[in-house]
Amino acid sequence: MFRNLGLIAFLFATPLSAQQKAFTLQAPEILVETDFLKHLLPRFSLKTGVRITLGDDTVDAVFGSTGTPVFAHGDTVWYLSKTDGPYTDAFQKWLLSDVGKRTIEAFEPDGEALFSADVTKAVVEEKFVLTGDATLGEKVSLTQCGRCHVVNDSNRMNAIGSTPSFALMRTFPDWRERFETFFMLRPHPAFTQVTNITEPFAAHLPSPIAPIEVTWGEIEAITAYVGSITPADLGAPLQSQ
Ligand code: HEC
Repeated sequence: MFRNLGLIAFLFATPLSAQQKAFTLQAPEILVETDFLKHLLPRFSLKTGVRITLGDDTVDAVFGSTGTPVFAHGDTVWYLSKTDGPYTDAFQKWLLSDVGKRTIEAFEPDGEALFSADVTKAVVEEKFVLTGDATLGEKVSLTQCGRCHVVNDSNRMNAIGSTPSFALMRTFPDWRERFETFFMLRPHPAFTQVTNITEPFAAHLPSPIAPIEVTWGEIEAITAYVGSITPADLGAPLQSQ
């Protein structure tokens, strides 16, 4: 008799615990704003019965810039970092599965896919940047750029405060392109020579200040170094950038 009661209690308990198949996810505004998550999350829940609620504290999983690359939005790769657990594991597995990838790419608010499940290209590019000679890049940056730009903490006091710091410029989505072409971007052409690439200063337009000269290899090294520095926290007070 008691054994049967126990069994009944167990049967009743099962649907309850099934309802608790859920976890909390944190996602930045930009993903929420595009309605991408309204497209993605219910489809995962339908398939697996796991409910995801969006939240900010004590979350089990986060879409951000660290963890496993899961989808791309333009040049930005989004990563999932998560605590271990059957539901968060299932979510990651689903995002990386064929069904998950198709779901990611099926989000077409204006008839065009906004997100791509192909994260390999962007990831490889980022790695390529970081394999350059960042140590040389730091040295060249400090000697050649550091009299105007704050390169890092070591020259903070010697640079010109109104000139953007490297950490600030590292936040630009196209930072890499800008660093690779800086010698063509004002104010640099007036005082910069790139060995075997730029024309010598015109005789009637000598450099107004002590000129700088870099090689293409040094520009690549600078770019690698900039790739390795932490972008400025734009939420922090301006003077700390
Ligand atoms: C004589 C001062 C000076 C030196 C030396 C200098 N810069 Fe700059 N740089 C500036 C100023 C000023 C700006 C901001 C221009 C603006 O806001 O329009 C700038 C902007 C930049 C930008 C952003 C350009 C853009 O339009 O997006 C990059 C990238 C850059 N510098 C890289 C470098 C690198 C790399 C070096 C060293 C090899 C260097 N700079 C040396 C003064 C300097």
